[in-house]
Amino acid sequence: MTQISAGERDRADSLANCRDKFIIPDGLIYLDGNSLGPVSHTAISRIHQAVTHEWATGLVRSWNAAGWMDLPLSLGNRLAPLIGAPADTVIVTDTLTILIAKLLANALALRPDRHVIVTDGDNFHSDFYIADGVAAATRREITVRRTTRAALAEALDDDVAVVLLTHVDYRSGELLDMRGISSCVHEHGALMIWDLAHSTGAVPLNVLDDGADFAAGCGYKYLNGGPGAPAFAYVAPHWLASLTNFLPGWLGHARPFDFDSTFEKASGIRALVTSSPSVVGLSALAGALDAFDDVSLDDIRRKSLDLTDFFIAEVEGRLPGLFELVTPRDHDRRASQVSWRHDEAYGIVQALISRGVVGDFRAPNIARFGFTPLYLSFQDVEVAVSHLVEVMRHREYADPAYRQKNPVT
Ligand SMILES: Cc1ncc(COP(=O)(O)O)c(C=O)c1O
Repeated sequence: MTQISAGERDRADSLANCRDKFIIPDGLIYLDGNSLGPVSHTAISRIHQAVTHEWATGLVRSWNAAGWMDLPLSLGNRLAPLIGAPADTVIVTDTLTILIAKLLANALALRPDRHVIVTDGDNFHSDFYIADGVAAATRREITVRRTTRAALAEALDDDVAVVLLTHVDYRSGELLDMRGISSCVHEHGALMIWDLAHSTGAVPLNVLDDGADFAAGCGYKYLNGGPGAPAFAYVAPHWLASLTNFLPGWLGHARPFDFDSTFEKASGIRALVTSSPSVVGLSALAGALDAFDDVSLDDIRRKSLDLTDFFIAEVEGRLPGLFELVTPRDHDRRASQVSWRHDEAYGIVQALISRGVVGDFRAPNIARFGFTPLYLSFQDVEVAVSHLVEVMRHREYADPAYRQKNPVT
């Protein structure tokens, strides 16, 4: 059992007052911000502003007057420091899967004599689907090679055009070594794309220094941009001039309002844009990013590790031997979630949700809990584990109601 009490930890927590930025229903312990972050007061007021002033009053004039057209780039510039990117290298648009498609196609175009996309066999399924889809859409013989993380170096040869990896494993929360892997990929002349879905806003990132050629991430997880929030993409400065978009559209044109029938790409990161910006979604994300204005990612990281250490120690101390820890113990390899393997994981998660402790389930047998330092306290963790103890003691997970699989798990 841990020695410093949850209360003492909370009293020493420099991020404790950040919780007031968010709306967390009374009595709820929300351990799923790695799936969908909660709404913040600033997100609500920014959405309100976009709808009731800019849209309702400004109408079409707001494309100019409210800067709607610039939102993908202006928001990209606000987000850039969170991933260690320079100005004008990040764009906010589309969804993550679409952006990965665009980045993959662009990388393949930059390596015209190579024929292989390498990815991790444990990657998120959408990344597999879109890699296969992009490979099929090119008019070249492209193969998608799935490897294991341990065998990545052996999977690299001079036919590999691009490697696509997710920086933080969505099941286990394992954090990969961005710098080491990017450098190994470059030694083989290939390009590196990082999926930052489970990293952005949770761990300090340095895409520029750590050698990412391209990266993309979600707006709706740790960034709290709301359900289906727009995603973002990063393109390293030295690739901006040669950037191509295999889904060209009018807003990726150099002069959209020339209505030119021939495509001429916009300069820089704007070339990745295809269509009209989703203004309400972008506004929600803009408001949500305010929550990061006065906090450092190093402080977030420190508290995240403390929270996850505390959770692991509490579960193992109070329920010894019941769960298999899937998440690495090593701080250098752990992001901001803790996953446990258990045959009854689905029912356990459902029983916890009924008790007001929200985590989620990932097939086949993983109970997953996300820890967001901006609104979670150590007392939340302690109470969550007390509920887990009760769920296990009374076998609440065996209730038939908790075996009913929901469409979203
Ligand atoms: C690692 C990873 N990649 C890609 C995606 C897909 O994101 P989107 O729905 O924005 O396409 C997700 C969604 O959760 C994810 O976790």
